[in-house]
Formats: sequence, C-alpha cells, structure tokens
Amino acid sequence: MKLADNKATLSFSNGSPSVDLPVYHGNVGPDVVDIRKLYAQTGMFTYDPGFLSTASCQSAITYIDGDKGELLYRGYPIEQLATNCDFMETCHLLLYGNLPNAAGKTEFTKRVTQHTMVNEQMQFFLRGFRRDAHPMAIMTGLVGALSAFYHDSTDITNPEHRDISAIRLIAKMPTLVAMAYKYTVGQPYMYPKNELSYAGNFLHMMFATPCEPYVVNPVIERAMDRIFTLHADHEQNASTSTVRLCGSSGTNPFAAIAAGVACLWGPAHGGANEACLNMLEDIQRMGGISKVGEFMEKVKDKNSGVKLMGFGHRVYKNYDPRAKLMQETCKEVLGALGLENDPLFKLAMALEKIALEDDYFVQRKLYPNVDFYSGIVQRAIGIPVPLFTAIFALARTVGWIAQLNEMIGDPEYKIGRPRQLFTGSERRDVQPISQR
Ligand code: SDX
Repeated sequence: MKLADNKATLSFSNGSPSVDLPVYHGNVGPDVVDIRKLYAQTGMFTYDPGFLSTASCQSAITYIDGDKGELLYRGYPIEQLATNCDFMETCHLLLYGNLPNAAGKTEFTKRVTQHTMVNEQMQFFLRGFRRDAHPMAIMTGLVGALSAFYHDSTDITNPEHRDISAIRLIAKMPTLVAMAYKYTVGQPYMYPKNELSYAGNFLHMMFATPCEPYVVNPVIERAMDRIFTLHADHEQNASTSTVRLCGSSGTNPFAAIAAGVACLWGPAHGGANEACLNMLEDIQRMGGISKVGEFMEKVKDKNSGVKLMGFGHRVYKNYDPRAKLMQETCKEVLGALGLENDPLFKLAMALEKIALEDDYFVQRKLYPNVDFYSGIVQRAIGIPVPLFTAIFALARTVGWIAQLNEMIGDPEYKIGRPRQLFTGSERRDVQPISQR
C-alpha cells in the first residue's frame, strides 16, 4: 500500500484536539484511512458493526467492484477464468499469484492428486452422526478432525507447512464431502481414482458404487469444475474473515478452515443456495409462476421476515458476475440433460425478471448473487439440496487457505482483537442472596 499525499483530519466540536490520520492507496479500489493510532491519540474507538466501512486487512488476492459487478482473482476477470481455465489453474493462481504454464499445471495437479485420500480412521468420525445429519454438521466436524492427523504440518510459521496444508485441504475436501454424502444415503465410501480430473474424481466418489462402473459425463464434469471456480474466493466475506480471525491466534490451518465451514453454513451466506432452492420448491408447490406476485408481496412486507434468497449482496450493487455465469451453466447442463423445460429454472428466471423490474429491488440495488442459480444446476446434476453448501465449502477452501496464508506470511500481522461500545451495567457490588 502507498501513503497518499492527502491525509484525514478528525476534529471534534467539543474543542478536543484534532487528529491527523494517514490515508493509503491500494492498487485499485477505495483508499483507506489508517486509524491504528486513533485509540492511543484520542481514547476513542471507531464503531462499525458488520464492518460496512472497514478494511480489516490488505490483500492482493481478490478484488470486487460492487458498482460495476466486477470480480477479479489476482487481476483476472472471473468471466475469463471460468471460460478459459479450470479449477486447478484457479487454485494455483489464488495460492501463488499466477496462472501456471502447462508443466506447472501438471505438477500442481499431481501434488493435489497425491493427497486425495484421507486417513482410514476418518471414517469412524462419521459413525457418530445420525444418518440424517446435515452434511454441514458433518463437514464442520470432519475438517476440524483433520488437525488430529497432520502434526507434521501445523507449524504455521513454516512456509512449507503452510503450503502442504493448503494442498492437503484442497485435495481432501472432495473426499470428505463425498463421504458425508455417502454416509447420509447409506452407501459405501468410494476411494478417489487418481486418473480422473479433480471434478471428475469428486463426481466418481459421489455417484459411483462398487456394484457397477461409473462414467463421468464430460458436460457435468465441466459444469462442476466451473462451479468450483465461481465459488473459489471472494475478498473478505464473512467466512473468510472468520478464517483470518481464527488463524490469527496461531491455531493450525485445519482448525481455522473448520471455523470457515461453520460460518459459511448460515443462510445469509453460503447456506443461501440451499435456502434458495427450498424457496423455489415452495413457490412451485404453491402454484409456480402464478404465485410469484403473492410471494413478492411477502418479501416486500418487512413483518413477514421473508427474503428472496439468492438475491442481494453486501458488496455487489449490480449483477453478481458469478450469477450470470451460473445461469449460463444452468442452460448448458439442463440442455445436455434434456431438462430445458426444468420448471424451477423457468420459475427462477421469472422471479429474477419480476424482481429486477420491481421498485423495491431496484431502489435497494438487489440483484441475483452466486447462490440464486447454483442450486438449480447442482440439483440437475443429482446433488441433494442439503449438500449444496458443503460443495460451496469445498470450492471456497482454496480461497480461505490462500487468504490465511497471505495473512500469516505478513510479518506485521497480529492476533485480531476488536473492541466494543459498552452499554451494560457500570460497576456494582454483589448483594448476599438473602438481599437480592
Ligand atoms: C454469499 O460477502 C460475500 O462476498 C458473500 C458471498 C461469497 O462469495 O462469499 O458472495 C456469498 O453469501 C452471497 C449472499 C447470499 N445470501 C443470500 O442470498 C440471502 C439473502 N440476501 C440477504 O440476506 C442480504 O442481501 C445479504 C445478507 C446478502 C446482504 O445483506 P446486507 O448487505 O446486510 O444488506 P441489508 O440486509 O441491510 O439489505 C439492505 C436492504 C434491507 O431493506 P431496508 O432495511 O433498507 O428497507 O435490502 C433488503 C433489506 O431488508 N434486502 C432484501 C434482500 N436482501 C436485502 N430484501 C428481500 N430479499 C433479499 N434477499
């Protein structure tokens, strides 16, 4: 970051001395006012619950221009990456800052492929869950449990440990998600087949059984790979901020990623894809497109507590570029599977059209986000709705670990420790229970 010529001067109407605060430029995007010395100089904190105006860190990984609806991974537009690259290239880009050449891609893919198996003891963790446990409950447990198996790579101050942990997490997430799925359907786990692609291996572990050969459909394989790329990273979102804050204590990478999995589960965040598909199915059950108007009235009624899931975003005040790409992927997959007339896809497109012409949404700049169409394509692929967020976590793991490693690799990083505006009781003495 570069010190700007101008500075910010904070003055107080009560005559307290004003304070000059440095301003820094990034390479692109808003400048920042450096308030690190504010408390020491004024005895005051800033107040920003939800961090609407707060930059928690500096990062070189992902840039979002919410007004333009632009998403760049290490400077490359998501549209170009989703079209011209695959998820392994995207992982290399996010972790190391550049797209690999052919030899580099082969080497990286080989490293990931060699770590796709999990320790045989991992299967015994699953037995403790009910068969109908939510996959995200299982994943929160399994990812955290990985830290019990890799004592050789949990020294986060060692760059080699950070790198092998990244490879292990990227490699093992598909295996764990597929195990969580197989456990809930009572089928045997399928071991990874290392001759398959990353996405192909995941589909194999998900849908193959020991009873008959399973052939990966290349259209579905490409769609799965693109879904991974579209979900790979997204600046300082809630789960990434969780991973950074958790990792700032010096805990091991597996524990920090498990914290990210837990945060992503929420319906306001990664859980929105599951909630969105359930919303579409509810509207379909009520009568489909003819009931959209009635549903929209509920969404606009604050007292209903009903939101149009898959719509709106803290940063995008324009169309989420991932939603556009996801809609295209929907069309490709539904077309390839002969499901062009999928009623839920038609319903989603009708909902989008109505919302984008409705003042409530226009005024609030609410557009479809990544979760609006992702469930429709995953459902068409045969992925059960409760597994959608686990697949989001699988894909986001590379972003989480890239951001975590970026933070830990910065010699200036400190443990995150926000303060508060205290509104509770002032000092008071405990009374004996007979007098309370
Ligand atoms: C992800 O941060 C990321 O980058 C996340 C993510 C990533 O890749 O990591 O992009 C992934 O989490 C996408 C978002 C998925 N969530 C949903 O689709 C759930 C539905 N969306 C909303 O809950 C909401 O839009 C949020 C949580 C996404 C954003 O909330 P904000 O920024 O806190 O905005 P807000 O709730 O203050 O909304 C502003 C206004 C409010 O109305 P008013 O009080 O101004 O009258 O818009 C309304 C909200 O009520 N609003 C919605 C709405 N989203 C916002 N009204 C109806 N339906 C919606 N979906």
